[in-house]
Amino acid sequence: MIREWQGKELPRVISGRFDLDNGHLLDVARADGAYATLGPDLFDKSQFELIEMVMDSGLRGRGGAGFPTGMKWRFVPRGSGKPVYLVVNADESEPGTFKDRLILERDPHLLIEGMIISSYALGVRTAYIYVRGEMLPQIANLNRALKECYDAGLLGENIQGSGFSLDIYVHRGAGAYICGEETALLNSLEGYKGQPRLKPPFPAVSGAFASPTAVNNVETIAALPWILKHGAQAYRQWGTERSPGSKLFSIAGDVGKPGVYEIPLGMPMLEFFDLAGGMVGELMGCIPGGSSAPVLNAEDCGKTTMDYEGLQSVGSMLGSGAVMPFNTTRDPVAILNCLTRFYAHESCGQCTPCREGTGYAARILAKLSAGKGEMSDIDLAYDLADNFEWTTICPLATADAWPIKSFISKFRDHFEKVTAQSPANREEALLTATFPGAFM
Ligand SMILES: Cc1cc2nc3c(=O)[nH]c(=O)nc-3n(C[C@H](O)[C@H](O)[C@H](O)COP(=O)(O)O)c2cc1C
Ligand code: SF4
Repeated sequence: MIREWQGKELPRVISGRFDLDNGHLLDVARADGAYATLGPDLFDKSQFELIEMVMDSGLRGRGGAGFPTGMKWRFVPRGSGKPVYLVVNADESEPGTFKDRLILERDPHLLIEGMIISSYALGVRTAYIYVRGEMLPQIANLNRALKECYDAGLLGENIQGSGFSLDIYVHRGAGAYICGEETALLNSLEGYKGQPRLKPPFPAVSGAFASPTAVNNVETIAALPWILKHGAQAYRQWGTERSPGSKLFSIAGDVGKPGVYEIPLGMPMLEFFDLAGGMVGELMGCIPGGSSAPVLNAEDCGKTTMDYEGLQSVGSMLGSGAVMPFNTTRDPVAILNCLTRFYAHESCGQCTPCREGTGYAARILAKLSAGKGEMSDIDLAYDLADNFEWTTICPLATADAWPIKSFISKFRDHFEKVTAQSPANREEALLTATFPGAFM
């Protein structure tokens, strides 16, 4: 990992042990301070104090929506007579996103320590980690780390003599993007088809097994040991007032050093590209927050900063922190074709606008991308997306609509150029030349 930038140390809230040899093993992680919070720092605090600490830190969910974590925890009812569950979302299937798997690979103990802290704060006795099924090395790492913790008395009954007990189970998904959506995830965890539920009720009130449940992203939970150790205000030394702290960004595409970087929120986007080895070629645009985030053109990239409000101000979003810049040799029509195919494939099929609309859009884009479209197809794709946006049970259809609408708006000239060469239009041009007035 790059640790310094422009003479300043970069934050290491999450990535502190990423460079450590065998940092995924308990002995090595413990020698570096893992689980040091599991004493008076944690067990002398009340649940209320811990939740307020997370509120004060300003930590926001790193799974995509950026919802304040402390606020979500405040919604979890106590004393309902039902158990409270913590479910960690390690599905990480948003195209371009590869930061959570690095935590599972390099420092699973950071996540487990974060889960013990959050479970204590929420009164949880049983917690789950829902992992994308294909992540086999990460799953093996997690299971090894959990066993090490049980053997060392860091999990199970009466952790470290504190009177607090916690069990953690790893649940493997079967590799469906939609199972990253929290309610589809809960259905899958319970053994049902991985299809989203109508909200409300929200999982905080009625989640796993119809009980109050906090669903949080891996990176969100992994930030807690640092916050508990150093305090909420120390976390605010980075970032902005409304987007405090640091964040892992996975960057792939036309930069010199693609990879995962931990940077303070609020860094200008172009500066982040420089940190990641600089642009290769001339910047054309960037998908800033995973495949569902509206695409930016080069001008937007020059204006924005890497935080929730900065990206919102240029019409996009921080999402899962998956950044994909592309240069002027790339074809925006081909990129959008690839994205629409993905969403059509991943629709769970419950809602008609999504099931039919994403497939229809994918077929139009395939035609346009193959150079066989008609000019009217460009507007048809846009209108279709505009119609199925926000009409469905979960935001998957909207996550397809945003790239469609933004790619067509920002790069319309490319869509028109590809389409102008299509046989349909060439035929029309030929006929017009041969029979002037034929198309009047
Ligand atoms: C289609 C879809 C896929 C999602 N995939 C993920 C995912 O892989 N990982 C994740 O943490 N959140 C994902 N989310 C967001 C979750 O529903 C949920 O908001 C998040 O796990 C909450 O955790 P946080 O508050 O810590 O961010 C997805 C949402 C949607 C609509
Ligand atoms: S929007 Fe799509 S993925 Fe979401 S519930 Fe409806 S059909 Fe399923």
